[in-house]
Amino acid sequence: MTQVSSLYLHVPFCKHLCNYCDFYKKLYEPGSNQIEDFHQFLLDSWDRHTILMKENGFNWAPLETLYLGGGTPSLWGIGGAEFLGDWLQSRLRILPDAEFTMEIDPGTWTENMIQAWKEKGLNRISIGTQTLDPNFIKIMDRSHSLDESYSLLEYCQKDNWNFSLDFLLGLPFSREKKRNIEHELATLLKYMPKHISLYILNARSKYPHIQSMPDDEFIREEYLFVSDYLKKLGFVHYEVSNFALPGFESKHNIKYWKGEAVAALGPTGTGYFPHSADKATRYKWKVSKADVELEYLGLQEISLEEIYLTLRTNFGWAPRHMTPALEKVITMWESKQYGEYRYGKMTLGSLGYLMMDSLMDDLFRAGL
Ligand SMILES: C[S@@+](CC[C@H](N)C(=O)[O-])C[C@H]1O[C@@H](n2cnc3c(N)ncnc32)[C@H](O)[C@@H]1O
Ligand code: SF4
Repeated sequence: MTQVSSLYLHVPFCKHLCNYCDFYKKLYEPGSNQIEDFHQFLLDSWDRHTILMKENGFNWAPLETLYLGGGTPSLWGIGGAEFLGDWLQSRLRILPDAEFTMEIDPGTWTENMIQAWKEKGLNRISIGTQTLDPNFIKIMDRSHSLDESYSLLEYCQKDNWNFSLDFLLGLPFSREKKRNIEHELATLLKYMPKHISLYILNARSKYPHIQSMPDDEFIREEYLFVSDYLKKLGFVHYEVSNFALPGFESKHNIKYWKGEAVAALGPTGTGYFPHSADKATRYKWKVSKADVELEYLGLQEISLEEIYLTLRTNFGWAPRHMTPALEKVITMWESKQYGEYRYGKMTLGSLGYLMMDSLMDDLFRAGL
């Protein structure tokens, strides 16, 4: 039996559906049965998951990481903390020093709610800040005010939370409205976050502001500016979209990037069971019923994912076989300052992270 010690839980409702977001979620309707239905889904999923684990030869180890993502987990409220206590904590053990993260939308929190979760072990908060600019918070269709963002930041700082911020780049009208990310970052950093997730807005063709998106050159400048700015302040750019002060990297996400086992529950939650170097199972929860879609990975898929995921992080990629074509590609990457090849490992820097997709194309052309 192999053990799994990490769990992702997807909480699928939001107070408002932001027009740019592709995560699975439903509009929260107070007074409806949504929460009860969600609880029933989790209870049913647990039974299905137990069978899935047996079939895959996995069992639970005490949890080292628990991540509540969404949707908006903070909407689950005090009732959610009570449910989690009765349901999950009676079924498996969460280590006292486990990393236990919850995503919080600044418009959906109270001190009492956070305290209730803290009693269940919550010790890390991920705040959906996105921007601190009054124009852009509206353009981004957020339902919370900047005052609500500031009060959550103040609370996290005052209460000494280990917290992370989500910050968005590449916003529509950025050039026209002269978005000042340096000013936004300087303000955010006064609250002493330990971690920052930096996302470039991914806009679909139906996005209402698709005609007003900044060009690639603008986004590149923003991304490299933020990376330099944060690195000068001691943050490590440890993954394409993530910066942390040393020791505050997301332990949960590192498990995904290292291809380690992570279980998942909740609609669209995706879990991964690695069996060997050439065999793994990925499963994704359906939304209509407590069942999963399964994907079986073989040597080729696992090797490709390993390259992609290790290149995305500062642990770097160690090619198993060096060929003349690969050597040529790596030399070219170094000459363009995408990263460094040292002691058998290719480690990208910020410029390389930005070019990830084209670097994968280089590898395919070199016969990988
Ligand atoms: C599940 S959401 C965060 C939790 C909470 N619902 C909130 O919005 O505050 C996770 C993060 O994904 C990012 N995100 C959502 N849609 C995105 C998109 N289209 N492109 C890039 N980042 C996106 C946002 O920064 C968001 O904070
Ligand atoms: S609140 Fe968060 S999860 Fe919900 S729609 Fe907005 S960005 Fe997406």
